Amino acid sequence: MKIAFCADIVGRPGREMLKRHIGAIKKEYGVDLVVVNYENASHGFGISPKNAMELLGLGIDVMTGGNHTWDKKEIVSIMDEYPILRPINYGSFTPGRGKWIGEVSGERVAVINLMGHFTMPMCDNPFVKILEVVEQLEEEGIRHIFIDFHAEATAEKRALLALLKGRVSAICGSHTHVGTDDLVIDGETCYVSDVGLTGCRDNSLGVDTKEVIDQCLKGYSSHFDVPKKCKKILQCVVMELDAHGKCIDAFKLKAYDNEPPFVSQKAYVEQ
Ligand SMILES: [Fe+2]
Ligand SMILES: [Fe+2]
Repeated sequence: MKIAFCADIVGRPGREMLKRHIGAIKKEYGVDLVVVNYENASHGFGISPKNAMELLGLGIDVMTGGNHTWDKKEIVSIMDEYPILRPINYGSFTPGRGKWIGEVSGERVAVINLMGHFTMPMCDNPFVKILEVVEQLEEEGIRHIFIDFHAEATAEKRALLALLKGRVSAICGSHTHVGTDDLVIDGETCYVSDVGLTGCRDNSLGVDTKEVIDQCLKGYSSHFDVPKKCKKILQCVVMELDAHGKCIDAFKLKAYDNEPPFVSQKAYVEQ
């Protein structure tokens, strides 16, 4: 089974890149399940129900969120109806769910959205929470377990790998919008600290640099804006899992503007 994961989709440029390339990626690499992170999909802040339906219509199977999940609160109205997750370690009063379980190529697969602690909104301890969740999945016999770990600190992300390697199929990071080059299969778990954004590539984190520079120089800025025109990038990780949920192959794909996607990195396999 092959899973493709794109992290933060930023604004219309990010949605356009998905629309342009995801069909070809699914076909060329035989992808069975596509997961994307939606937290910045509508003009950089959250996702509207309309844009959520647009992404699902492209063949996205599960969508994960993060600290920007609630920026467009209207999304709450359709979260129970569609595979639109929010971090699982929000408190019990928070709407939505953080885990999706479905059948893919004859196997039950779990997709979990987890949020880190450092600089993030108030949430339950992600490490304690994920141990509970993984234990429960193991009891149910679910061995294909994918985690989008939405976190700022690479230290937390690496700690999660140390905690769970060999027990889950994949831990892929999102939130920082900058891809890291540590894609690895360690203990048969696919891991990367951050996949990086899909959206504008010629600015700062997918938003117009004017406000970002104002913030840096003056200490204040106006609303961060996603540019209407920019140079674009799509980034995703494709991983192959065996019948036991172990990762046997993984690679990173990048696409620049209209150019076809290419393999930019193969996962190093730790022995
Ligand atoms: Fe983000
Ligand atoms: Fe985030």
